[in-house]
Amino acid sequence: MNLIILGPPGAGKGTQAKIIAEKLDVAHISTGDLLRDELKKDTETSARIKEIMNSGGLVSDEIVVELLEKRVKDEKNGFILDGFPRNLEQAEILDEKGFDIDAAIALDVMDETIVERISGRLFCQSCCAVFHAKYHKPKKENICDVCGAALTQRSDDNAEVVEKRLNVYHELTEPIIVHYAEKGVLTAVDGSGNVEDITNAILSAISKAAE
Ligand code: AP5
Repeated sequence: MNLIILGPPGAGKGTQAKIIAEKLDVAHISTGDLLRDELKKDTETSARIKEIMNSGGLVSDEIVVELLEKRVKDEKNGFILDGFPRNLEQAEILDEKGFDIDAAIALDVMDETIVERISGRLFCQSCCAVFHAKYHKPKKENICDVCGAALTQRSDDNAEVVEKRLNVYHELTEPIIVHYAEKGVLTAVDGSGNVEDITNAILSAISKAAE
């Protein structure tokens, strides 16, 4: 089963995609995490990626598609894409490469909720686990429950960059919602409740899409 989770920055895409991937036994593929892994390398490309991510813009389709193709090629059981596609060109590339999408979930979250979620997010640079200072506290303050590394704020989680990321989302990513609605695979899910209720709403949308 091939799935896509869409939504603005901080909507909870990564949180939900991890849970859904585990429940449905598909791969969770986050292009944000793939790009952050690239930043650990000291190359000219990684320096370029860092500059773009820290400004809140989109990394070039060429770089992102190459990373995605490498990651997706061994996944036989399907995947849930988190952070891809991010513009109509990327959606068309998925179509051209023959990836059939069974369901696309668009998380609907108000801007003020987004700001609260992003400003409290704690991120593990080592294993990409995500926590929240109020809603999903790690057992030990600022220590990752999964791998024990120190938790930090993402460098693109400051007010100025979040505003830019939101603008980019509205301008370039939102039109994709129409693309998947026209294909008949889109379900909008209210992303403003608690994590478990949202997961249940997503699972129910996926099972309806699979009927
Ligand atoms: P990316 O990493 O994809 O960031 P994003 O889309 O901005 O989304 P976030 O990771 O910020 O949020 P999320 O929706 O996953 O929320 P989360 O679950 O963490 O991309 C970063 C950058 O990489 C982009 O700006 C771009 O430069 C580049 N990039 C990536 N993909 C690209 C592509 N395809 N093409 C070009 N460039 C690309 O939740 C947020 C917080 O809220 C967490 O603390 C969480 O614990 C908490 N939370 C989650 N759900 C709930 C809930 N229900 N109640 C309370 N708290 C909650």
